[in-house]
Amino acid sequence: MTVNHPIFETKDLVKTYSRQGSSVNALDGVDLTLRSGVSLGIVGESGAGKSTILDILLGIEKPTRGTVKYHGQELDMANRKQMNQFRREVQVVFQDPKTSLNPRMRVGSIVGEPLRSLKIEGDSAQRVREVLKAVGLNPDVVSRYPDEFSGGQRQRIAIARAIASSPIVLIGDEPVSALDVSVRIQILELFQSLKNLLNLTLILVSHDLAIVGQLCEEIIVLKNGQIVEAGDTRTIFTNPSADYTKKLLDSVPTFLSTYPG
Ligand SMILES: Nc1ncnc2c1ncn2[C@@H]1O[C@H](COP(=O)(O)OP(=O)(O)OP(=O)(O)O)[C@@H](O)[C@H]1O
Ligand SMILES: [Mg+2]
Repeated sequence: MTVNHPIFETKDLVKTYSRQGSSVNALDGVDLTLRSGVSLGIVGESGAGKSTILDILLGIEKPTRGTVKYHGQELDMANRKQMNQFRREVQVVFQDPKTSLNPRMRVGSIVGEPLRSLKIEGDSAQRVREVLKAVGLNPDVVSRYPDEFSGGQRQRIAIARAIASSPIVLIGDEPVSALDVSVRIQILELFQSLKNLLNLTLILVSHDLAIVGQLCEEIIVLKNGQIVEAGDTRTIFTNPSADYTKKLLDSVPTFLSTYPG
């Protein structure tokens, strides 16, 4: 396996949704590559198509046109072995930990769910405790319920569940935007430390350039389903070429002074 081989590669993705007789091009010709070890931020305003890209990468939605390759192969839902491997390797953290955690399940079952559904061998109780520790929670929380926790702690539980299967890609769709500002930084720091510790390649979606800029080496800027700018994070921050990117940057005035290097 070469360093930086493409994990995901999309070609000319188009997604058209029809609604009440009219149709929307949620994606209109998106080419992107996710390379191992090069985390990718996807930014753009509401409705730009960010979540649609994730749905297609995850196989939740089919593209109207275009292809997605994972490790050089198109996903085939009927191929159980490939899908099981894919689900182990690619995990997601959603925006709102209130709705993404089943309130009737204990934390231990929630975090252990991927181990059960993906039939991952080994001591799952031990693994659950291990990942809870890794996200900064006391492993004894296994017997408690999600509503006993704050928003930030719930997001830690969701992250613990996502890393339980030892993924190589961790996807976050606005993973901090539902949280209080003070908690956001802690969760972003957690993403950063897990990224390093577990060698994760991140795909992070946000309407906020500052957030993806902190964690991702590359960025794509999406507008109306099209990529208006793509490339290295530092280049985009210091020398954005699209007016749209400049506008997004103007809304994060504090960022340049805090950007490392
Ligand atoms: N299931 C659907 N049916 C119809 N239209 C949809 C559907 N999902 C998304 N769309 C439309 O596709 C476009 C892109 O939506 P998408 O959710 O990908 O945007 P987004 O960038 O994630 O926005 P946000 O920041 O608000 O989450 C929007 O115009 C949206 O209304
Ligand atoms: Mg979205």
